[in-house]
Amino acid sequence: MVARRNCAYKNGGSGMRCKRGVCYIENVSPMKLKRILVKSSAGPYSVVSGAGAIRRAALEIAALGRFSSFHVVSSPKVWRAVGRTVQRGLQLSKGGSIHLFDDAESAKNLRSVEQITRSLCRAGADRQSLVVAVGGGVVGDVAGFAAAAFLRGVKLVHIPTTLVSQVDSSIGGKTGVNLPEGKNLVGSFYPPQLVLTDPELLRTLSDREFRGGLAEVIKHSIIADAEMFAILEKNMERVLRRDRLELGFLVPRNVQIKARVVSRDERESGLREILNFGHTFAHALESVTKYRRYQHGEAVAWGMMAAAFLGHELGLTRANDVSRIVALIRRLGPLPSWPRVPATALLRAMRSDKKTRSGILRFVLSPRIGEARSYDTVPFHVVERVLHFTPRLITSSNKLSLGRHG
Ligand SMILES: NC(=O)c1ccc[n+]([C@@H]2O[C@H](COP(=O)([O-])OP(=O)(O)OC[C@H]3O[C@@H](n4cnc5c(N)ncnc54)[C@H](O)[C@@H]3O)[C@@H](O)[C@H]2O)c1
Ligand SMILES: [Zn+2]
Repeated sequence: MVARRNCAYKNGGSGMRCKRGVCYIENVSPMKLKRILVKSSAGPYSVVSGAGAIRRAALEIAALGRFSSFHVVSSPKVWRAVGRTVQRGLQLSKGGSIHLFDDAESAKNLRSVEQITRSLCRAGADRQSLVVAVGGGVVGDVAGFAAAAFLRGVKLVHIPTTLVSQVDSSIGGKTGVNLPEGKNLVGSFYPPQLVLTDPELLRTLSDREFRGGLAEVIKHSIIADAEMFAILEKNMERVLRRDRLELGFLVPRNVQIKARVVSRDERESGLREILNFGHTFAHALESVTKYRRYQHGEAVAWGMMAAAFLGHELGLTRANDVSRIVALIRRLGPLPSWPRVPATALLRAMRSDKKTRSGILRFVLSPRIGEARSYDTVPFHVVERVLHFTPRLITSSNKLSLGRHG
């Protein structure tokens, strides 16, 4: 079936059912693909999500219009893992060049942007060229920023290959790089023309990266989807095994959540803040450990438990919800331990976070699973108490459960 570009506004035609902005494309794979629309200041774009999405890449890109040339931007590691599948989906044998750069977080910098744009130049890219970013959040953010800057903007398609990039970073148009002074300090909002998220591309991802991505999935369920939270509680073992059916369900469902939030608040002036649930704590943990101890999702996992405790301390989150949140997060597996620093050091790190508005700490809290709001009147002493007891509570419950089983 041929892709219909604007199907999310109209009736999609035969083989396609459209409901509330989501088109269910039939006859593509036994697992249905979803077409999820994201609104942005530069116009709407689709996220085609589900098992088999990559096989439609050439078709979907053809539906975007004509391009003078195609330029895949990826990393050697990603390309080794999924290059062949992506190449087949894109039908790259018909022309196109591949530009590989190191996607370590330490290489997420302006030098990589220079390398990519110079490589595009040498390959003859012009204003009518298309950049296709294939990789995790680092590739997406750097290649996205390069596409935004090259010739003042060439069209961009994301093919995310980590769980984080599929459910989070490829949607919403944020691109950018780090400076020695801090993370993501240079960048732009540059929405893509299309995103293709295929959970099949996650097969080769390391266990640690996959579990880190699941922390963001749990976050989405806490802030916006109580039903998904219950499904995760029921099926976590299958999810951890990367069961095809589970991922085929979870990835599009999470894309929908992120798409809904950023469509309503592209520039993070309000609603988008709820996506930071657990992140005020997580950024402080990452910063005091110099970004070496935790994979980001692991810091978010700690951060979400702390945010649940904070909600409870403030009389917002019910004890039962706190236990469910903590229990689900702990099923992700053991986390690197909480740093041995005083609570005041973490508080200091929170106050110097770039998202802190004029020294006021903001926390996203969940009054009940499936809902979240941002609060900026949380007393410091309560935060300090939570920073103090979170690691103690979690470690002691570790010992308790060990005691019971051993
Ligand atoms: N733009 C946004 O809105 C946004 C949101 C969240 C995170 N981010 C950014 O995303 C970055 C983190 O992204 P990430 O979590 O996707 O990690 P990542 O891009 O650092 O990738 C993690 C590792 O997995 C490898 N990898 C990627 N895909 C693979 C695959 N299919 N098989 C095997 N290995 C694979 C990569 O080479 C890398 O070594 C951070 O820089 C963060 O700032 C941006
Ligand atoms: Zn995050």
